[in-house]
Amino acid sequence: MNAALPVPVEAASPHVMNTYGRLPLALSHGQGCRVWDVNGKAYLDALGGIAVNTLGHNHPRLVPALQEQISRLIHTSNYYHIPLQEALAAKLVELSGMTNVFFCSTGLEANEAALKLARKFGHDKGIERPEIVVYDKAFHGRSIATLSATGNAKVQAGFGPLVEGFIRVPLNDAQALKKATAGNPNVVAVFLEAIQGEGGVNPVDVDYLRALRKLCDEQDWLLMIDEVQCGMGRTGKWFAHQWAGILPDVMPLAKGLGSGVPIGAVVAGPKAAKIFAPGNHGSTFGGNPLAMRAGVETIRIMERDGLLDNAAAMGRHFTETLQRELAEQLASGAVKDIRGRGLMIGIELAIPCSALMQKALDKGLLISVTAESVVRLVPPLIVSAAEVDAMVAILAPLIRDFLAANGAPA
Ligand SMILES: Cc1ncc(COP(=O)(O)O)c(C=O)c1O
Repeated sequence: MNAALPVPVEAASPHVMNTYGRLPLALSHGQGCRVWDVNGKAYLDALGGIAVNTLGHNHPRLVPALQEQISRLIHTSNYYHIPLQEALAAKLVELSGMTNVFFCSTGLEANEAALKLARKFGHDKGIERPEIVVYDKAFHGRSIATLSATGNAKVQAGFGPLVEGFIRVPLNDAQALKKATAGNPNVVAVFLEAIQGEGGVNPVDVDYLRALRKLCDEQDWLLMIDEVQCGMGRTGKWFAHQWAGILPDVMPLAKGLGSGVPIGAVVAGPKAAKIFAPGNHGSTFGGNPLAMRAGVETIRIMERDGLLDNAAAMGRHFTETLQRELAEQLASGAVKDIRGRGLMIGIELAIPCSALMQKALDKGLLISVTAESVVRLVPPLIVSAAEVDAMVAILAPLIRDFLAANGAPA
């Protein structure tokens, strides 16, 4: 493909609002787990648009399906029935074991809908000031309500007053949760990611998830599991909470559901499925035919190509190879941990390491660093063993050299 973009490439972006500390890279096109910049340099993509490009780039079955949909119908309105919504909802219900779906366009929108469901669940029970349990280091989005639920002071700084009605607790600590909610009749829900993504790839213990399910049943609270980043097959099951063998009452999804076409969804079980009535919630773009087709085709291709099994197997291979290549650094404590599940992997270093993003780019690899010291790997679920090996062959020496140059424990 010609590397030229259909628009001029500006070195800086004087007109785009300054909300991202961007790296000096402009991408032109992609194929599978590779992308090329406007100068023709190739990169391996271990970031997948931050856990979005489930099927990689230019997928040979997704692209023609989207082209067909674009020429047929991109957008209509939720004034009318949209058969593709019904098709995608039925599929998500089948995969999740839950019952009903609301569609929107982003992760924060899905989480906003979940928070509204929880509040209305409370109001319907006569609770006038409902409160929702949320977690340290959580990330749920950047709207005023979702940043209030987020457990990161940097995300909240400058945007007060925050939305009230949240009780914050540490992750994986059942006693702390019981203490924080004891005797509080206003609690209506517990809201958490099954694996915290932005917070540093922090998995929730399966025992803790099971304890939460039990507690929510006993107390008549909603268990709301944000699967925006860890869901849609990334961990080797459709949804990360399924490793604990439990069912949530509410599950926000987005990111990987549309393989890059903006989409969000809130899946609800019986306890939450009938809380909203017409007029309670909506979204102009939510559930539009193009986004729904992207979701339907993404899942169809994932099933046909066994991408859950691939995510599990490649995740194991990735983690084991990294553990072998960084064994000395793990032993010395310079690498504190390699964790995650499937193709959601975090490598926690003993020192801040944001500089690794640029260093990886220089060597032809896309990664991200989150929570200052955690290298995050969330590649497309189509990644092959040879591509994983090629990614590790770039990343492991970079990490070793970076640690040595920055005085981390030898
Ligand atoms: C767990 C989780 N929830 C919500 C969001 C917000 O999604 P969006 O950026 O699509 O609004 C993110 C984004 O990183 C996320 O990781």
